[in-house]
Order: sequence, then structure tokens, then C-alpha cells
Amino acid sequence: ELPERVTIWEVGPRDGLQNEDEVVPSAVKLEFVHRLADAGLPVVETTSFVHPKWVPQLADATEVLDGLDRRAGTRYPVLVPNARGLDRAVDSGVTDIAIFASATESFARRNLNRGLDEQFEMFEPVVGRAVSEGMGVRGYVSMVFGDPWEGPVAIDQVVSVGRRLLDMGCSRLSLGDTIGVATPGLVEAVLRAFVAAGVSVDRLAVHFHDTYGQALSNTCAALRLGVTTVDASAGGLGGCPYAGSATGNLATEDLVWMLEGMGIEHGVDLEALVETSAWMARQLGRPSPSGVVRALAR
Ligand code: HMG
Ligand code: MG
Repeated sequence: ELPERVTIWEVGPRDGLQNEDEVVPSAVKLEFVHRLADAGLPVVETTSFVHPKWVPQLADATEVLDGLDRRAGTRYPVLVPNARGLDRAVDSGVTDIAIFASATESFARRNLNRGLDEQFEMFEPVVGRAVSEGMGVRGYVSMVFGDPWEGPVAIDQVVSVGRRLLDMGCSRLSLGDTIGVATPGLVEAVLRAFVAAGVSVDRLAVHFHDTYGQALSNTCAALRLGVTTVDASAGGLGGCPYAGSATGNLATEDLVWMLEGMGIEHGVDLEALVETSAWMARQLGRPSPSGVVRALAR
């Protein structure tokens, strides 16, 4: 049974831009965020307070937050890995954060510079403090559906990582197909395993990269199982700098087009969104990979 309404969690300014080699000016990032919020996106993940050497593109997180003109009714979460990141985020007036764990040892080492178990020691005080300050805390799990170094990932291991994030205080999880290898049957199996472990589906979001062109099919499978929060990136921008083969996220336009056709409410102005992605593509000097953007852009 399909949901009546879906919340689109826009990740373009963060996941979409973090992998761009050429540094995008802070003013362009801000215009991007503002245009996305104006297009009706209820959540715009704005930047990351990670180590600037690890993700140089987002080294201007403080400047971006300083220039942010917050729209009533829009949330602007940011990625925070550790205590230093949380300090920086709090100084910038952030009220929603996301921590990001790995379901595999290999990616934990590459993305977080620590092992699978050690990552929780880094996140625990961050989540504890954020929750006590009344912040919204999302927990990402990466490499849920496959890992470029380890291959298939045991579903038990994914569920156990997710459970640990919820137990430490994350209110919701986003299940990440970091390298875009998932297919609908596996999506269904993973979601069912979480439900069997006592996690209700309204605490689960899905985060698909479109490397293998499966993102929309996977989203459809998740919707049929009752998922109501879907991550997407305007124009299909994106990729993770520490997961070589990863390309962009599910394009927000592709998602909106499908939801529209299925009669599922989303609250986004597709025309304004397409114009925003076409504008961003010009800033980056490269056409959007989204079929919907290409079909509709003037
Ligand atoms: P580390 O080197 O182990 O850090 O990095 P450390 O704790 O040892 O600290 C070393 C130095 O860095 C210290 O400075 C800290 O102050 C400083 P020193 O005392 O030597 O002068 N430092 C910081 N400075 C600014 N901001 C900070 C910060 N932290 C430490 N936050 C760390 C560990 C986690 C910081 C590093 O590995 C890192 O930044 N990783 C981020 C990688 C990243 O952003 N990846 C992309 C996002 S994940 C993703 O895209 C997947 C997702 O989309 C879902 C999916 O698709 O599956 C979410
Ligand atoms: Mg991602």
C-alpha cells in the first residue's frame, strides 16, 4: 500500500556538492539552498561540519550558515561527525544534525578514519549532547546494500549498526546505498529485516545513489513497504569522495515526477526545481544527468 504523502529530504547542497572538485563559491551554495527552500522542499541538508581537509568543498560551512536566510517551515540539517563538528554547528545556530555511520569496516576506515566499532564511540557523545539540546538527530547508515571493497553486506550487520544508532538517541535512520548497487528485492529484504527487529518503518528513510540506474525502482519498492521519507538531490548531483565508484543521488526531479504520477503528495514546485537545477548545471559547467531536468528545462 502506498503512502499518501512523502517527505523529500533534499541533499543537493551537501551530498550533491561534496564531490565537486572545483570549489563552488559560498554565494552560489547559498542561492542554491534558498532556491530549493523556495521550491517547497521541506528539508534542505545544507552542508557538513566535517574536517575541511577531508571535504574541502564544504570547508565554508560556517560562512554558508552565516548567510542562510531561514524560511519558516523549512529545516536545514547539516552533517556532523564528532564533538568538534557539533561545536562548530552549534556556533552557527544549527538545530538539526545528521551523524553518518558505516555498515562496513572498510568504509568506516576510509570515511571516518576509524573501525566499525570505534565509530560509535565518536558518535555517542555527539548524539547525547544534541538530543539533550533538543536538536533533531538523523543517523545515516552507509554501504547498506553493498560495499565496493567488501561486496555484499550481511543484512544482520546493517540492522545491528542501525539499532545502535537508534539506541544512542537518533530519532530516524537513513539507509544509504552509497554506491548505487541496490535492486528492489534487496531493498525489500533490508526494510523487512529492520521491521522484524522492531524498528517501525516511519523511522526509516531511504537514500539511493543512481550509479546503476536503479534509484527510482528502489524508491518505489520502499514506498510500497510504507517508507515516507526519501532522500534526493536536485538535478541528480552527487557522490561520496571516499567511495570512488559512487555517482549522484536519485534526482529530486525524477522523484517528484514519479510521485506526481502516482498521486502521492510532496509539496514541491517542479518547475521552480527544474529551473534551479538547470541554473546549478550552468554554474558547474555540465548538464544535469536527470532525465526529467533534460526533458523540462527551458
Ligand atoms: P580524524 O583525522 O581521525 O580526526 O578525522 P581527529 O579527531 O583525529 O582530529 C584531527 C584534527 O582534525 C584535530 O586538529 C581536530 O581538531 C580536527 P588538531 O588538534 O590536530 O589541530 N578536526 C576537525 N576540524 C574541523 N571540523 C571537524 C573536525 N574534526 C576533527 N569536524 C573525521 C575524523 C571524522 C573528522 C574525518 O574522517 C572526516 O571529516 N570525515 C568526513 C568524511 C565525509 O564527510 N564523507 C562524506 C560524507 S558521508 C556520505 O557522503 C554518505 C551519505 O551520503 C550516505 C550514503 O550515501 O550512504 C551520508
Ligand atoms: Mg550519499
